[in-house]
Amino acid sequence: MAEKAFVMIKPNAVKRGLIGEIIKRYEQKGLKVVAMKMIKMKKAQAEELYKVHQGKDFYQPLIEFILSGPVVVMIIEGPRVIEAVRSINGETDPLKAQAGSIRGEFGISVRKNIVHASDSIQSAEQEWKIFFEENEIFEYLCGF
Ligand code: CMP
Repeated sequence: MAEKAFVMIKPNAVKRGLIGEIIKRYEQKGLKVVAMKMIKMKKAQAEELYKVHQGKDFYQPLIEFILSGPVVVMIIEGPRVIEAVRSINGETDPLKAQAGSIRGEFGISVRKNIVHASDSIQSAEQEWKIFFEENEIFEYLCGF
């Protein structure tokens, strides 16, 4: 079965009109969007998503930033999808991210680094369950 990753387009990227540009990059690589919605995240959801960072100095500003506007949450499927999405996104710090990656091209701030993606299959499942019901995840064949 294909692996699934949780991906979120952060509020600054939504405000900058980058939704289409970002989704295009996953799709053109051959990955499949199997669930997607725009939401204004609830504080409890943000705290659950970022619970591993609780207590760190960047935690509170990160939560405030994520709650500052709508985000697009999605589940993306494909072979080795965690690795594939992380390579498309680039490193967490946009100034260290490869040229041509999403963060390398569009980001400058670590906090406002355009996108979030799960770092493992296990965390992906924990993360998408914060935002999606099972019946919001679709199975379909790619192609015409
Ligand atoms: P993300 O993939 O959303 O996962 C955790 C986020 O914390 C990360 O991207 C960054 O936006 C943020 N983050 C990680 N390290 C730092 C840092 N040193 N300073 C500010 N923000 C950080």
